Amino acid sequence: MGSLANFINGLLKPAGIELVRLSRRQVMPAELPDPTLYTGPEDYHRLFRPWRGAEFDRWFTPAVTDNTMLSRQKLYFLLRMVQQTLGVPGDIFEAGAGSGGSGRLMLELLRSHHSGKALWLLDTFEGYQKVDPAKDGAHMQVNDCKCRSFEDVTRLLANDTNAVHLVKGLIPGTLAQVTAPAISFAHIDVNLHEPTKAALEFALERLSRGGVIVFDDYNWPATYGARQAIEDVCARHRLPVISLPESTQAFVVKP
Ligand SMILES: C[S@@+](CC[C@H](N)C(=O)[O-])C[C@H]1O[C@@H](n2cnc3c(N)ncnc32)[C@H](O)[C@@H]1O
Repeated sequence: MGSLANFINGLLKPAGIELVRLSRRQVMPAELPDPTLYTGPEDYHRLFRPWRGAEFDRWFTPAVTDNTMLSRQKLYFLLRMVQQTLGVPGDIFEAGAGSGGSGRLMLELLRSHHSGKALWLLDTFEGYQKVDPAKDGAHMQVNDCKCRSFEDVTRLLANDTNAVHLVKGLIPGTLAQVTAPAISFAHIDVNLHEPTKAALEFALERLSRGGVIVFDDYNWPATYGARQAIEDVCARHRLPVISLPESTQAFVVKP
């Protein structure tokens, strides 16, 4: 969300209302093979939402929130899962760096814990450059989802403590440039079937025991192609996918 939306959200916050970005081309659950699994009778709107608390303002700075598509709720989950895996051997891997906000949050967490882990952040930095309409649906189109430039993201993540490897180009081709011997945490947020599948297989091969992979796109109807990739790969590895209630996110843990 941009700064205007943040400003409006600041005004709406006392009333408990929040603006959220909707995809331009909405995909209705009725278009999917399991539409009833996308509806829910529960009303969770009165639940405790710790991510709204002022204590998290320390983490959700403008450098993060102005450079991410992730809501405060999703950033909170990402933050906590990276924190949970700080003691697990390996580096941090992200497929779909976007404008760099999620990477900046993970970097700030590493720095605050004096963790020397490196970050490997992959993106075309030019939006979708290859889409498979058969797997991803006609609503996903080349050049959609353009975020900030490679140069802007490089500036956002410049620091003097942790190695940040920005890998520009199309996944799966760029995965060979990731030379991390082990991965402790992976964030997979590319929205599309093929790069989700390739990035997940790559991360699982290198994930240390106790490591976690968070998916951003499991429960959106619009990213059903990514969900199928996650389910195929995790079924082959006999790993249960844990879907987060009332979120688009899901995760797996390597036992
Ligand atoms: C939803 S955005 C990532 C958002 C980001 N994690 C954040 O914090 O806002 C999805 C990203 O995936 C990238 N992407 C999609 N397909 C890709 C591919 N095959 N290879 C590399 N990047 C890809 C897009 O360029 C886009 O920046």
